[in-house]
Amino acid sequence: MDEDEVREFSEKLSGRIASLEERNDKLLEVARRVESEKRYAETEMGRLQKEIKRLKQELDRLKSPPLIIGNIRDVLADERVVVKSSTGPDFIVHAADYIAKENIVVGARVALNKQTLAVMGVLPPSLDPIVTGAEIIEKPEVSYEDIGGLEPQMLELREAVEDPLLKPELYRKVGIEPPKGVLLVGPPGTGKTLIAKAVANRTKATFIRFVGSELVQKYIGEGARLVRELFQLAREKAPSIVFIDELDSVGAKRLEVATSGDREVQRTLMQLLAELDGFNPLGEVKIIGATNRPDILDDALLRPGRFDRIIEIPVPNYDARLSIFRIHTRRMSATKEVDYEMLATRCDGATGADIKAMCTEAGMFAIREDRESVGMQDFERAVDKVIGENLTRHEAPGAMYA
Ligand SMILES: Nc1ncnc2c1ncn2[C@@H]1O[C@H](COP(=O)(O)OP(=O)(O)OP(=O)(O)O)[C@@H](O)[C@H]1O
Ligand SMILES: [Mg+2]
Repeated sequence: MDEDEVREFSEKLSGRIASLEERNDKLLEVARRVESEKRYAETEMGRLQKEIKRLKQELDRLKSPPLIIGNIRDVLADERVVVKSSTGPDFIVHAADYIAKENIVVGARVALNKQTLAVMGVLPPSLDPIVTGAEIIEKPEVSYEDIGGLEPQMLELREAVEDPLLKPELYRKVGIEPPKGVLLVGPPGTGKTLIAKAVANRTKATFIRFVGSELVQKYIGEGARLVRELFQLAREKAPSIVFIDELDSVGAKRLEVATSGDREVQRTLMQLLAELDGFNPLGEVKIIGATNRPDILDDALLRPGRFDRIIEIPVPNYDARLSIFRIHTRRMSATKEVDYEMLATRCDGATGADIKAMCTEAGMFAIREDRESVGMQDFERAVDKVIGENLTRHEAPGAMYA
C-alpha cells in the first residue's frame, strides 16, 4: 500500500467510525425512550393493580349482606348483649371481638349482622349532620334596625323567651313559671320570620331554626327523628331557643288521615308535642313558633305548657309602613322629591313584604328607563302595581284575621 492508499483507507475508516458513532447515539436514544416507556408502563400497571384491588373491595362491600340497625337494650354478664332491631323483637346476641368494650353500652346504636344479628359495629351517636349543620344553628344578619314597627311585639318576644333563659333567678324570685313556647301569628309577609331572626341575632342563647315545611318535604320519613334530634341538640347546647318556622305544615289539625304523607306529618307532630310536654324536661330550652294559619293548627299545640303565649303580628299601620319604606329604601338612590308619607298613606293594608316588593319594583322602573335614581313616579307606579297584584291574587287580603 502506498501512502495515498493508506490515507484513503484511514479516511474511509474514520467516516465509518463517525457513522457508527452516530448510529450508536441513535440507538442509545431509542434505548432511553424504551426505558422510559417501560417505567411508565410499570407505574401504570401499579396504578391499575391498585384500581383492581379497590374495585374488588368495593365489590365485596356491595356483596356483603346488609346490616340491620338496632339498639343495645342490655349488656349481660357473659358479655352477650340484648339488642332490639328496628324491625322486630329483642334478641340476645354476641358482639364482634374487635369492638371496644367501652363502646358497647346500653342505648348505643349498633349495626347487626342480618342473619345472626351479631353486633358488627357501633354507630356514631345519631345526631344528623343536617341537624348539627350550620344551616340550623345560625346567627342571622337581621338587626332591630331592619324592622319597621313591631316594637311592642319584639319586646314581648324577648321578654317571653330570652329573659327566662338568661335571667332565670328573676322568675324564681317572683315565683312564676315563664312561658314555655311563644307562637307568632300573623298574615304572610308581616315579619314573623324577621323578628325571630332579629331576636336570634341579639341573644346569647343558641338559636336553632328549622322550617316545618322542609321537615316534612325534604326529610320524608325522618321528620319525627329530626324533631327529636333537634331538641336533643337544643338541650345539649342550652340555654337555647328553638324556632319552628311555618309551624302549620307540621302542626295541622289531626284529621282522619288517609295518605302516608299525612301520617308522616302526624308522627312529626306527635314527636313535637312529646318534646314540648317535657317528657324530656325542657327547662333551658324555649320555643318560638311562627304560622300564618293559626286556624288550622292542632288545638293540642296551643294548650298550656306548649305554645302558651301568642303574639300577634299585625299588618303594619301607617307609622310602621312609613318606617318600613325608609328601611327598604336606605340603600336605594332615590330622588329627594320622593314623599314617603304619601306612599305610606297610599298603601293601606300592605304588608312589610309588599312594601319591600314596591321598593324593588320602583327601582326596576327606573332601570328600565335607564335612570340611575328612583323618582316619586316610579314609586307610585310600583305601589299601584303591587296593590293590583295583591287584589288579583286573593280577593280579600287578610280576611282570615279580620
Ligand atoms: N316589619 C317589617 N319591617 C321591614 N321589613 C319587613 C317587615 N315585615 C316584612 N318585611 C320584609 O318582608 C320580607 C318577608 O317577611 P317575613 O319572611 O318575615 O314574613 P313572614 O311573616 O314570616 O311571612 P310568612 O308567614 O309568609 O312566613 C322580609 O324579608 C322583609 O324584607
Ligand atoms: Mg315566615
